[in-house]
Amino acid sequence: MYDSMSRIIWTILLLGYTYVDAASLRCYNGSLDNPLIVPLDFPRPLIDKSCINTSRVTKFFISGFNRNVTGEESVAVLSAYIKRGDVNVLYLDWAEEAKIGGLGTILGYIKAASNTQEVGFRFAAALLNLRDGGLEFTKVHLVGHSLGAQIAGITGNTLRDQGYILQRATCLDPARPLYSGLISFKNGVGPECAKQVDVVHTDPGGYGLAERVGTADFWPNYEGGKTVQPGCSTGEFALLSQDGLCSHILAWKFFVETINECNCFPAASSPDYATWTKTNGTTNSTIYMGEYVSPEARGNYYLVTNDRPLYGKGDEGTNPNNRIRN
Ligand SMILES: *[C@@H]1O[C@H](CO)[C@@H](O)[C@H](O)[C@H]1NC(C)=O
Ligand SMILES: *[C@@H]1O[C@H](CO)[C@@H](O)[C@H](O)[C@H]1NC(C)=O
Ligand SMILES: *[C@@H]1O[C@H](CO)[C@@H](O)[C@H](O)[C@H]1NC(C)=O
Ligand SMILES: *[C@@H]1O[C@H](CO)[C@@H](O)[C@H](O)[C@H]1NC(C)=O
Ligand SMILES: *[C@@H]1O[C@H](CO)[C@@H](O)[C@H](O)[C@H]1NC(C)=O
Repeated sequence: MYDSMSRIIWTILLLGYTYVDAASLRCYNGSLDNPLIVPLDFPRPLIDKSCINTSRVTKFFISGFNRNVTGEESVAVLSAYIKRGDVNVLYLDWAEEAKIGGLGTILGYIKAASNTQEVGFRFAAALLNLRDGGLEFTKVHLVGHSLGAQIAGITGNTLRDQGYILQRATCLDPARPLYSGLISFKNGVGPECAKQVDVVHTDPGGYGLAERVGTADFWPNYEGGKTVQPGCSTGEFALLSQDGLCSHILAWKFFVETINECNCFPAASSPDYATWTKTNGTTNSTIYMGEYVSPEARGNYYLVTNDRPLYGKGDEGTNPNNRIRN
């Protein structure tokens, strides 16, 4: 046991040096075409060239393991914000550090997960540099999926340690492997990484964290443990197979729907899952999951969704009896 643990630790430490220094920030001006791209370590042209308008809220999207800007989630989130307008829209591109490369899935993941540390530290430094240029941290919103959510956490925690606090982090099914359990990084998503940390758990105990880590944690279609989302297949699947990732992916699909289509994921405040089911979703407080979440939201929130778009069920969604069975 000890032997295999120390081997894993050493692997992490050694692979930690595989950071390739290719990360960049991409800033979009009204469309996905021709973004302004700057190295993560020299971000100031974003402000000097007026791609970031410091009067507006700035959204940064961060995708996960082995993903890049052409991935479905990146295109969906970035397009939704561009379409909405009146916000600065950026993508933290860490695709080189995130990719499997020739390592195979497991080693590739260990490499990517350890690289989240360096990417997070450098992103924090980049934000401080932008702050010197006029970016206000009260107008910064990080949105991350999976390992990208953990980068949002590391970035926010790093800034917090230096006395600065970001306004908001939206953490979409934050990655669990190497971020939960005995041998894991401890500086990922947590309630201190921003003033407001809203977390959406769609694959708790699978690819996503099963524990509360936000100021507000949302548990769509939760079943009291490992949860298979409605519309996803049950069973054992190969690592990173489309079927196996189905529940994990829904976190960003729900989120995009709240920017694009409707703010229709009311969720019931409840101390825990047992109370929510016992009371049939009768609650002291209903708030909306997603982009337009109330800044006052605190604690656990439960809801059910449809099994296909539009996923939002409106008021029916707060009642556990309306869960769609697979
Ligand atoms: C953004 O696009 C508008 C119109 O297409 C243009 O006038 C403006 O200069 C562009 N801004 C930047 C920073 O490229
Ligand atoms: C910056 O954003 C503000 C608020 O949306 C807007 O009024 C202003 O025109 C923008 N400035 C530029 C240069 O686009
Ligand atoms: C993004 O990832 C896809 C799928 O892995 C790959 O085919 C594509 O070449 C990558 N694109 C970039 C710009 O890295
Ligand atoms: C509603 O509030 C009361 C009093 O604060 C509390 O005792 C009760 O547990 C709450 N119910 C739910 C479902 O949160
Ligand atoms: C909850 O709903 C079930 C099924 O509709 C019903 O039998 C039960 O009485 C309800 N319980 C409460 C506390 O409302």
